[in-house]
Amino acid sequence: MNKRLNVITLDGPAGVGKSTLARLLAEELAVAWLDTGAMFRCLALKLGPGAEKLAEDALRRRCATFSFSIGGRGKDTTLYCNGIPVGEEVRSENVGLLAARIAAVPAIREVLKQAQRAIGQTTPLVAEGRDMGIVVFPDAEFKFFLDASPEIRAGRRLKELEQNGEAVNPAELADRIRHRDNLDRNRAIAPLRPADDAVLVDTSSMTVEEVLNFMLRRITEGK
Ligand code: DC
Repeated sequence: MNKRLNVITLDGPAGVGKSTLARLLAEELAVAWLDTGAMFRCLALKLGPGAEKLAEDALRRRCATFSFSIGGRGKDTTLYCNGIPVGEEVRSENVGLLAARIAAVPAIREVLKQAQRAIGQTTPLVAEGRDMGIVVFPDAEFKFFLDASPEIRAGRRLKELEQNGEAVNPAELADRIRHRDNLDRNRAIAPLRPADDAVLVDTSSMTVEEVLNFMLRRITEGK
């Protein structure tokens, strides 16, 4: 079987619950989970603020010093950068904002696309992000696009940040989510949108279990 056909893509906006669902789906299917947002976040943290303003060749030279890999599967999948696990340090809202900025830079997207495809060539995956179904794995076996209103996503993100000990103002968080949506949906390269052949799931009034079961049903029914 073509290795690329072992990829399932999960795309959608910030805070929709992609990471939780990708991890659970990967666990159910006993494949690895690729959190591509964590790759953008990790690179944003390593490159530091203002990286999006660097000249392309300087940026490419710096990016070439970082290599990504994954190990394990399901909920125990670990993403590595230069052999070191990428951890909670990339999860803050501040790093998310830096990530959204560098994500608009073509050289960064190209570098990460190659890294994501290289991982997908050797490892069956649930790949989650913004452009998995359209750009990185256009021939994936199953594609899902999750969505929910900015208010509902802000509420979900608030819970996640509180669990990590980060205190945030809910109204400010909803504004930041809208700002990130704007950056993600309106950038010139690989803007966030569903692939034509993606299954759209409005998760606004669904529980995590309901979304997971819906996706598993689609996969087992082969649709
Ligand atoms: O999913 P996340 O919040 O961890 O992603 C952080 C940022 O990275 C997000 O604002 C946009 C960017 N991103 C992207 O452009 N393409 C991806 N495949 C994954 C993330």
